[in-house]
Amino acid sequence: MHCSAWNTLVETKNPSSNNFGKIKNRAQKLNSITSGQQDRSSTNIPELDRVLGGGVVSGSVILLGGDPGIGKSTLALQWLVAQYPVVRSLYVSGEESIQQISLRAKRLGLDNTPIDVISENRLEAVLEILPNYEMVIIDSIQALHAKAISSVSGSISQVREVADRLTRCAKANSCSVLIIGHVTKEGSIAGPKVLEHMVDTVLYFEGDSSSRFRLVRSFKNRFGSINEIGVFFMTETGLKEISSPSAMFLSGRNREAPGSVILVTYEGNRSLLVEVQGLLDRTNLSNPRRLCVGLDSQRVILLLAILQRHGGITISNQDVFVNVAGGLKISESGADVAIASAILSSLTDKPFPSDTVCFGEIGLAGEIRPVQRGEERILEAAKLGFKRAILPYGNKVSAKPSQMEVIHLKRIDELVEWLV
Ligand code: TYD
Ligand code: MG
Repeated sequence: MHCSAWNTLVETKNPSSNNFGKIKNRAQKLNSITSGQQDRSSTNIPELDRVLGGGVVSGSVILLGGDPGIGKSTLALQWLVAQYPVVRSLYVSGEESIQQISLRAKRLGLDNTPIDVISENRLEAVLEILPNYEMVIIDSIQALHAKAISSVSGSISQVREVADRLTRCAKANSCSVLIIGHVTKEGSIAGPKVLEHMVDTVLYFEGDSSSRFRLVRSFKNRFGSINEIGVFFMTETGLKEISSPSAMFLSGRNREAPGSVILVTYEGNRSLLVEVQGLLDRTNLSNPRRLCVGLDSQRVILLLAILQRHGGITISNQDVFVNVAGGLKISESGADVAIASAILSSLTDKPFPSDTVCFGEIGLAGEIRPVQRGEERILEAAKLGFKRAILPYGNKVSAKPSQMEVIHLKRIDELVEWLV
């Protein structure tokens, strides 16, 4: 400094190191905080609102993950169009040209809606226009590039930087951002799930490539409950909502075929009826085949052992194939009774009664154990016209529809006896 005077240098405290008084005063008593109503806007797609907990919260960041080709871009475009003109929105594509987006919109019959669309993969350019909108879709995070990071687009450091700056910009401008992310071969978005902790909501788009059913599932939601599912069907003209998924999953079933059993499963806070199919075939192989589609194969092997040991039947000379029709994946143990019934029905070549549903877990000692939400499952089955339910003894049913006959079972040998 050149002030040309002596003794003018004065020691001062670094202001940033003396902030504790202020921070202390900022702390509030938990019971004194008034939680203001979240500002939510409906997507006008009820199945999406359901997984989001009632709509998009203003300024929130949502991650939509899924396999390439599952329909993420399709859903995103339909989402923006459904919100038009209430929400001022922008579709940023880092992967496709605007001509390609327009082609998709034509195919979907949505090309008459004036949504702002831009083909851009420089993060800085996106951040510059983001404050002009209430909702922005980034398709996809792996295609965006931040100048400050030298590595290629889609690398972990890029994805992390892009997501971090998008999130901060979204919060600062109360603009909701939907980030689309491709699930990589390892089954995580852009490497080891680097984004999930940064965003408010994580949705996964699931479905089998051979089937047209698509599920949107919430894995994390700071503004709603998790594990909600929304069910869609991919058609020639885009994704259609399915308001009664059970009826859809059961359509096309052969009522008289041995090995076909209707299970009431509980997925994503709703009861779903699905068909579990079993096929047993005699074999001379010393290691018979056990193949499962849509179910945990270890669980099925466990059930085969329980059936042999406690059900008094022989399966070791049979190839076993078990399948969930419609491409749904079931992970709950409440499917045990249905899997065992499908195996028994195919083995004995006796059709399972077509007006009957079942659910329940089977333990290693052959006991049939209660599962959650028994009453809700029975109600769903009754709604679709089923007349009988086989369920665990431990599942008490106090309010049962009048036309529904309920059969409580305690052990697996009772199930074998009832079926055979
Ligand atoms: P897309 O949304 O591009 O998938 P993602 O963005 O997840 O990679 O959709 C991919 C598939 O969806 C594509 O194979 C074609 C099919 N599709 C339909 O069956 N119907 C449609 O109306 C559209 C637009 C796509
Ligand atoms: Mg896409």
